[in-house]
Amino acid sequence: MSADSQSSHIFKILVVGDLGTGKTSIIKRYVHNVFSTHYKSTIGVDFALKVIDWEDGSIIRLQLWDIAGQERFGSMTRVYYKESVGALLVFDVTRPTTLEVVLKWKRDVDDKVRFKDGSNIPVVLIANKMDALSKSEIEAMQQRLDEFVLAHNFIAWYPTSAKENINIEESCRHLIRSVLERK
Ligand code: GTP
Ligand code: MG
Repeated sequence: MSADSQSSHIFKILVVGDLGTGKTSIIKRYVHNVFSTHYKSTIGVDFALKVIDWEDGSIIRLQLWDIAGQERFGSMTRVYYKESVGALLVFDVTRPTTLEVVLKWKRDVDDKVRFKDGSNIPVVLIANKMDALSKSEIEAMQQRLDEFVLAHNFIAWYPTSAKENINIEESCRHLIRSVLERK
């Protein structure tokens, strides 16, 4: 066994975005592989832990901070964001207003948390509930979101579905890779 295979990381990851976009559902799918259509709005913040056997043999412990959508109007986000190293920013593809609000969340994260060298933490844009769109609707979204993530300094975007378990693992893996590059 190499020394590397013994190593482990703990990464604090934020999951943010507006009310009802599917943050809690994404985390439940990712951590417990379950999904419910029942909507129970998160109050404040919830936590989940996902332990990952990473590609290089190391172990990554992801502390997922599930921030309630309503916290955008509160004064606690600076406290919640402290020492996080990456974020998933979730919107609901069936409600375009939740994409407009993405920029408010992005600014909030960029303003309130940074690496020691002053750089922003990596943020992946999550276009959730894609199961509710037709193939052509998803294709129509593609170019717009490609431009959107470039213009607003996201590292990537993924069309996801917590319901059908699409691209959740991929989004998280992309984020982790980016965090590892900056550490
Ligand atoms: P707050 O805690 O209020 O900020 O909301 P949230 O972002 O945590 O949303 P939550 O995960 O509670 O999901 C809200 C509703 O959307 C629930 O009824 C979910 O079942 C539904 N939902 C979440 N993800 C998906 C998805 O991928 N597809 C579909 N069709 N519905 C989803
Ligand atoms: Mg929630």
